[in-house]
Order: sequence, then structure tokens, then C-alpha cells
Amino acid sequence: MSLERTLSIIKPDGVRRNLIGKIFTRFEESGLKVIATRMAHLSRAEAEGFYAVHSHRPFFNDLVSYMTSGPVVISILEGEGAILRHRELMGATDPKKAAPGTIRADFAESIEANTVHGSDAPETAAFEASWFFRGTETFGAKQG
Ligand code: CMP
Repeated sequence: MSLERTLSIIKPDGVRRNLIGKIFTRFEESGLKVIATRMAHLSRAEAEGFYAVHSHRPFFNDLVSYMTSGPVVISILEGEGAILRHRELMGATDPKKAAPGTIRADFAESIEANTVHGSDAPETAAFEASWFFRGTETFGAKQG
């Protein structure tokens, strides 16, 4: 395994229900380090650009409306095999299919309000991190 970075979002339902601390605790206790983080209320343009890969999916407009419905917490996490580790902590996209003990199984309200987002591959992690953060805003092993 190698040192990786992944982009994590606590979605509006997670922020609204005061789950930021509980979710960060799961990241930190699994060995993932928060190397950049900020709260934001996304504009439609920011959400549409972030989810551009889904722009032809039938749920795209609802997804963008949902992601702009309230503040989110956007972070870059770093650790050995961070992308897969984060995805394992989150569980399946659909909370009905998420394994017990995962964030989505424990907290998600629906497939849309599924509490967290995480990058699914190194290429998307690089794109997603650069969508929200400048290199000088990260404080990981490689950058201080
Ligand atoms: P996320 O990991 O943020 O990536 C795209 C999001 O689209 C996904 O989580 C879901 O919250 C949302 N979504 C809404 N409806 C669907 C669907 N039918 N299939 C997959 N993703 C969906």
C-alpha cells in the first residue's frame, strides 16, 4: 500500500444532524489524517462541476439541489491506502446495502442524503481535491 490522499465531504444531512465530530473520529481512529478541511455552502456551479461525471444521470439535478441545500464539510484525508480505507468506512452508496458499522449504515437517511462522499480512485481523488483546495492549503506528510 502507498500513502494516498482522498477527498471527503460530510454532506448537508451530516452537518445538519451534528455528525461532524463522530465522522471525523471514525476517520482519525482508522489512521486517516485530516490534512485540509473547511466548511462551505456550495454554489450550483461548484456542485455541478464537482459531480460533472454524473451530469447525464437521471438523478443529477436532484443531487446538485441536495448538495447545495446546506453547508458541507470538505476535507482531504491522507493515509496508507486512504482511498479504499475511506470507502470501507463509508459503506455502500445505498445505505440499505451498506455493511453494518459503516457510516452510511449507521447514519445515512437515503441514497441521496447518504451523509458522506469519498473519491473512488486516484484520478478522481486528484481532481476532487484540486476542485476545492489549493496545494498550499494542505498539511500532509508531503507538504508540512
Ligand atoms: P456520492 O458518493 O456523493 O456520488 C454521487 C451521488 O449521487 C451518490 O453519492 C448519491 O448520494 C447520489 N445518488 C442519488 N441517487 C443515486 C442513484 N440512484 N444511484 C447512485 N447515486 C445516487
